[in-house]
Amino acid sequence: MSTAKLILDGKEHEFPVVTGSEGEVAVDISKLRERTGAITLDEGYGNTGSCRSAITFIDGEQGILRYRGIPIEELEEARFTEVAYLLIYGRLPNQTELVEWREKLTRHSLLHEDMKKFFEGFPASAHPMAMLSAMVASLSTYYPDTADLDLNIVRLLAKAKTIAAFSYKKSIGQPFMYPLNHLSYTENFVHMMFAVPAEPMHISPVLDRALNLLLILHADHEQNCSTSTVRMVGSSGANLFASVSAGVCALWGPLHGGANQAVIEMLEAIAADGGNYRKYVEMAKDKASGFRLMGFGHRVYKNFDPRSRILKTAADEVLAELGIRDPLLEVAKGLEEIALEDAYFVEKKLYPNVDFYSGILYRAMGIPTNMFTVMFALGRLPGWIAHWREMREQGARINRPRQVYTGPTRTSWVPVERR
Ligand code: ACO
Repeated sequence: MSTAKLILDGKEHEFPVVTGSEGEVAVDISKLRERTGAITLDEGYGNTGSCRSAITFIDGEQGILRYRGIPIEELEEARFTEVAYLLIYGRLPNQTELVEWREKLTRHSLLHEDMKKFFEGFPASAHPMAMLSAMVASLSTYYPDTADLDLNIVRLLAKAKTIAAFSYKKSIGQPFMYPLNHLSYTENFVHMMFAVPAEPMHISPVLDRALNLLLILHADHEQNCSTSTVRMVGSSGANLFASVSAGVCALWGPLHGGANQAVIEMLEAIAADGGNYRKYVEMAKDKASGFRLMGFGHRVYKNFDPRSRILKTAADEVLAELGIRDPLLEVAKGLEEIALEDAYFVEKKLYPNVDFYSGILYRAMGIPTNMFTVMFALGRLPGWIAHWREMREQGARINRPRQVYTGPTRTSWVPVERR
């Protein structure tokens, strides 16, 4: 076993080196404080492995993303439900298992009737991510932790899409549409989002395929902010629904999943401003402007994001098949072209990420901008569940980082009249 040496205050300490199955090298510093009294400082955790995980592999330098060893490009032909099974249970389901899995995901789609009343309490203007988080946490009031875990996993996957669609219906004042058992997972979501009781609805196979692809591409991304949140919350022993509800909140932020909404808002602003891409690229380079090119840059990908490549092609294909000409796609492509040639973006290795083109596809589906991050959450659910389950199986210790204290040293309390 190889080791790493650290010299601190002239004293040498040796630590084991752990190597992952794809050659990732990590220095195991779990005994660092015990042996040296020191801790590590890694703000933003850019260099810290928080766990061992067998779910997803990313090589940010080469633009590789694999779920349980399978390259994301090969999964383009799969269905989201089988990818969910793959991530959560570690292998592709056989035919019987897949039929049973889909059957269960269909049968558990309904919400408890009382849960529908929760929506009445939210204002019509409520952000759907707030509703999703609240509703996911509320599932724990109906399905306690003592229940069968696999059943709770199915319930969460099955009901989240119903919650998402109901939150949209609530926001536009239309009646909730119940799931239909003859429809697939993705078709059911489209039906619950867009159908109305007054007439039958035709679900476009083009949109169904695009939705399936989007969900698969978002399904997991190892220790990102929201997944780490799910693991962090779950490490205290909190139940699946509570942990995933926290993950939804983490995803909401504009530096994470909320970026897909921010990208479209940015593209709209650029289009309204006459489509002057260069002006916005210059603004993004000027730190004082406080403006960032949304959908650009990634903590891990330093070459290209494979998901963004797939989505760019898909956006072209889907829009062509549907006969839609979206001016924002042209703005996005123009912006990308200029940014990719710009020294600032090249030097800092900033490339379009998954959020850059996903919004164009969501728009083509008729999904409103404030629902984009909910779409991301629906896709990411299997990843969150897989990590929560893996963490539980590993018997993880409670996640509890340390800190370097920089506040006042010992000081005394002063009674108010003497302050
Ligand atoms: N536009 C302009 N400059 C950028 C951008 C951007 N989009 N992204 C990073 N930079 C610059 C930073 O200012 C920084 O410059 P400096 O070294 O001179 O200080 C450098 O590039 C490195 O950026 P960091 O913020 O330190 O990188 P980090 O890994 O912490 O952040 C992040 C990654 C949050 C994705 C960042 O690139 C960003 O804010 N992008 C825009 C938001 C976005 O698209 N988020 C979605 C990410 S993907 C996802 O969550 C699904």
